[in-house]
Amino acid sequence: MPLDRLFSPLALGPAELPNRIVSTAHQTTLVHEHLPTDDFVAYHEARARGGAGLIVLEATAVHPSGLLTSHTLGGYLPQIVDGYRRVAAAVGPHGTRLFVQLLHGGREQIATPPRAPALAPSPVPSPRFRAEPRSASPAEIEELVAGYARCAELAAEAELAGVEVSAAHRYLIEQFLDPDLNLRDDEWRDGSRFLVEVLRAVRSAAPGLALGVRLSADSPRARTIAELAVAEGADYVSLALGDSSTYLGSVGIVPPPPVPEAAVLELLFEAGVPRIATSRMLDVELADRLVGEGRVEALGMTRALIADPELPRKAREGRLAERIGCVGCNACIAHYHAGTPLRCAVNPRTGREARLGPPAADRRRRLVVVGGGPAGIAAAIEAGSAGHEVVLAERQDRLGGQIALTRAAPGGRELAERFLDNAERGLAAAGVDVRLGTEGPEGLEADAFVLATGAKPYRGDEGLTAWDVLSGTIPDGERVLVADWGGDPAGLDAAEVLAAAGKRVTLAVASVGVGELVHQYRRNLYLQRLYRAGVRIVHHHELASGPSLRNVFAPELETPVEADAVVLALGRVPVEAEPPPGARVERAGDCLSPRSLEEAVLEGTLAARRAVA
Ligand SMILES: Cc1cc2nc3c(=O)[nH]c(=O)nc-3n(C[C@H](O)[C@H](O)[C@H](O)COP(=O)(O)O)c2cc1C
Repeated sequence: MPLDRLFSPLALGPAELPNRIVSTAHQTTLVHEHLPTDDFVAYHEARARGGAGLIVLEATAVHPSGLLTSHTLGGYLPQIVDGYRRVAAAVGPHGTRLFVQLLHGGREQIATPPRAPALAPSPVPSPRFRAEPRSASPAEIEELVAGYARCAELAAEAELAGVEVSAAHRYLIEQFLDPDLNLRDDEWRDGSRFLVEVLRAVRSAAPGLALGVRLSADSPRARTIAELAVAEGADYVSLALGDSSTYLGSVGIVPPPPVPEAAVLELLFEAGVPRIATSRMLDVELADRLVGEGRVEALGMTRALIADPELPRKAREGRLAERIGCVGCNACIAHYHAGTPLRCAVNPRTGREARLGPPAADRRRRLVVVGGGPAGIAAAIEAGSAGHEVVLAERQDRLGGQIALTRAAPGGRELAERFLDNAERGLAAAGVDVRLGTEGPEGLEADAFVLATGAKPYRGDEGLTAWDVLSGTIPDGERVLVADWGGDPAGLDAAEVLAAAGKRVTLAVASVGVGELVHQYRRNLYLQRLYRAGVRIVHHHELASGPSLRNVFAPELETPVEADAVVLALGRVPVEAEPPPGARVERAGDCLSPRSLEEAVLEGTLAARRAVA
């Protein structure tokens, strides 16, 4: 059998996993009143059915003061037992083990107002989420420890197989251990005491359950935490990356490309107990090799499973060609930060397991999809997989639309390649007749059409655009101004490409922040690369006639543009196509109004279902 090492069982204390693929804790926002919803149950059931060996349920608050958001599970609520039981009943028959992660964020609070008062070892404001905690009193600290114990007791009552204590991401437990954040002068000054007391309390409240500790492998406190955990009898450690409190540190929590795949591997260390390592592990063959070489005992493959819950089963059955690969766009965590239910940009069924069934056909129809960008590709795959006859007509000589364009830039390259790889395999498996260099819809016969003709740059006929740069046009002259509206990544990509071509680049951004439509972890890495490439960033300025740069807050402040060339990145407008008279027509994606990959794929999928219904 392929991948035997990855698919060998692993004991984490009393819990025996059927294989080494783990869905590590991740907040789904499929939570209501701090309890699991039916969508939550369906979501995890799908990952269990797909073959994950272990599911660790998301960060669950041990106390009301530790609710990271208004949709965090409340592990201290008596009703959580019923919620856990429903998940366990759905997951258990597939052989998957079910743990829960217990967490208190301390001074890290993601919630929007009204926020609970933040508690921390000491009153040190947190820069990323701008929480300003007070120092927890000794009585409050005792109450928090008791909260961990109560939560463990409830997890045991629901017969979960394990409890994972998060000492990662510089949340509360790490805050006690951090001398910059623990400025106390009482007995809790010894930061290890809090972790030790928590682990003892959890163990004694749930003695029959596996006990794990999650930590950030890139933290200066990683080894101390692992040593304390093992000394207290932890059955495993889970090695993640990242620090919630800083812009750059937070990127590691859910690292997007171009962070290399499996970045955590460089930080692994012997712990004396099994290790679960997590960070952009996408390739099951690599995972199998790592287990075989003894470098790690199990792999978190969380986004890989968010994108394709069936990945383990497909891998085991030699059907990897059918996988939907995670592209690293971070739409999943963007939903969490926006407080909306978990979604995946490349798999519209994620988070909708209970509502959006598999592709189906009552009778075979002929569908023509016009436009080979993400919306058109999704439409063609959906209808083709259902057994319909599908033609995908693309005007250009390549598929992928805007995604393919971003292949030219470091921030888009891997995403584009992974997306196109999915597309190629998906279209082939669905039997779609792909016609490049074909204008549509005229001259194409069909029962129904999906028009997915995409977008073009706003004011694209007024000069050189970011898309031109990404298509290979580098302007003459040394000094280039990129006039960026501050939304989608096109301007950022163009600035990087121009800087790499040796230009002196100024990026003028007409918004409060840079790339406001780009998820913050990707945006932070854009900023890191742009600064390192010497790109000068001018905030809050829009391009005015002259040309000049006009301050968007104080419009009387204008400065003439001093550049040899100007590149426009001013947003996009739809490209519309004339529908064939009398035909059944559905539209999807940017031709309805330009948005992101996620809407394109979702709307393409739904449009195809409507068109052939
Ligand atoms: C939507 C989302 C929510 C997350 N929430 C948690 C969490 O509750 N607790 C935690 O320890 N890690 C959390 N993480 C981090 C993941 O457990 C994992 O470490 C991270 O996604 C990197 O692994 P991957 O590349 O396999 O996805 C979250 C990740 C995502 C995508």
